[in-house]
Amino acid sequence: MRQETRDHELTAASLHGSLTEPALESMNFLNEVAMRYPDAVSFASGRPLEDFFDVALLHEYIDTYCRYLRDELGYDEVGVNRTLFQYGRTKGIVHELVSRQLAADEGITADPEAIVVTVGCQEAMFITARALRADERDVLLAISPTYVGMTGAARLADMPVWPVRSGALGVDLDDLGRQVRRARQAGLRPRGCYVMPDFANPSGVSLTIPLRHELLDLAAAEDILLLEDNPYGLFHDGRHLPALKALDTHRQVVYLGSFAKTGFPGARVGYVVADQRVAADDGCVSLLADELSKIKSMVTVNTSAVAQALVAGKLLHHDFSMAAANRRETAAYLRNLRQLLDGLRRRFAGWEGTVTWNSPSGGFFAVVTLPFPADDELLERSAHEYRVLWTPMSHFNPTGTGCNRCGSPAVSSPRTRSRKASPGSPRSWRG
Ligand SMILES: Cc1ncc(COP(=O)(O)O)c(C=O)c1O
Repeated sequence: MRQETRDHELTAASLHGSLTEPALESMNFLNEVAMRYPDAVSFASGRPLEDFFDVALLHEYIDTYCRYLRDELGYDEVGVNRTLFQYGRTKGIVHELVSRQLAADEGITADPEAIVVTVGCQEAMFITARALRADERDVLLAISPTYVGMTGAARLADMPVWPVRSGALGVDLDDLGRQVRRARQAGLRPRGCYVMPDFANPSGVSLTIPLRHELLDLAAAEDILLLEDNPYGLFHDGRHLPALKALDTHRQVVYLGSFAKTGFPGARVGYVVADQRVAADDGCVSLLADELSKIKSMVTVNTSAVAQALVAGKLLHHDFSMAAANRRETAAYLRNLRQLLDGLRRRFAGWEGTVTWNSPSGGFFAVVTLPFPADDELLERSAHEYRVLWTPMSHFNPTGTGCNRCGSPAVSSPRTRSRKASPGSPRSWRG
C-alpha cells in the first residue's frame, strides 16, 4: 500500500542560530528597500559612484593584465589562457600587485605571501572570523556602530560580537580595556577588535594619529589582534592618515582590504593581509594567511581569476595606485559631501541641538541624529512618501537595538544627484 508522502519541511530552530539574527537580515532588507525604490534619492549604502563605469574598460583591464603576464612574467599564450580560464592559486594570483598597491597608497609593507585575495572583503571577514573562533570562549570585540558585514560574518562563525564604545573620537580606549577585562573575567577570550580607522561605516569618523598609536599600544598590552577594515581611506581631502597596518611593528594588525570602492564592486575582489606567525604543535610555523587559505579553499576554492585580472588591469593602468585611479571619483565624493553638509546646515538652521550631524572630511558616510526614532518603519515611509533612502543606525549596532540616528553616505548616482537638493528631502527626515 502506498503511503501518503509530504513535502520535506524544516523548522527555523533546526537551522544555524545565526539565521535568526538581525545582522543577517540587515543587508537583504536594505538592498530590498533600495531595489523597490530605484528612483529614490539614495543616502542608503556604500555604493560607489556610477558615472565612470564603462564596459570598454573591462576589456582594457583584461588586455593590460594579459600583457603584464606576457611581458613582465614571461608567460606564453598557453600560460596566459590557463591563468584566466583555469582553477587558480587559492591565495590569489594578483598578490604581488596588491602588495605594490599597499606600498604605493598606504605605505604598508606587505609580504605578498601574507596576502589572501578573497571574494570581496566580506569573504576576508568570514575566513578571519572562522579561523579565530576556536571554541565557545572566543568573542570578537567591535567598535560600535559596527559594519553589519563583520557582525554577520562573526555570527556565521559562531563568534559573538561585543560592542566597544566609539565615543566622539572613534574608539573609547577605556571602554576597550574594560571590555577586554570583562570578557576575560567571564572566562572568555577576546580574539581581536574590529575597527575602521578611516571614515568608518557608518559613523564617518576617523581616528587621529595619536589615537592610532594608543590603540596599537593597548592592543599590544592586552595581546589582542586588531582587525583593520579600510575600504574608504583613500577618499580623503588631501589629509591622508597612516593605516594602523602602516604603523604596526608587532604584527598586531590583520588588514582587511576591499577593491569594491576603489576598483568596482561588481568584480567582488578583496583581500586580507595576515602576516601573523602560527606555531603548530610539531614546531612548524606558518603564516595566518596560509591557515586562512585552507578555509577559503573550502568556501570559494579561489577568487575568480577573471575578476582578479580586472582589478589587476586597473592597478597596472594607474601605476599601482588606487588613489591615482580614483582622482575624479574622490573629487565627486568630496563635492557631494560638501553639498550634503551645506544642505543640512541650510535646512536645519534653527534646529541647533535638536537635529545634529557630524562632519567627516571624506569617505562615504555622515550621521544625522534626530529627536525621534529613525527606524525601519520610518525608512519605509521616507522611501514611499518622499523617495529618499537612508540607513537606520540600529542595523549597525551589534546588539541590534534601535536609536534615533540614520547614516547617510555622501554618495549618489547621477540620477539621484540632481534630486538631492529637492525641497522634499529634508522633510522626510522629520517624518
Ligand atoms: C566597512 C566595510 N567593509 C567592507 C565592505 C564590503 O566590501 P566588499 O564589497 O569588498 O565585500 C563594505 C561595503 O560596504 C564596508 O562598508
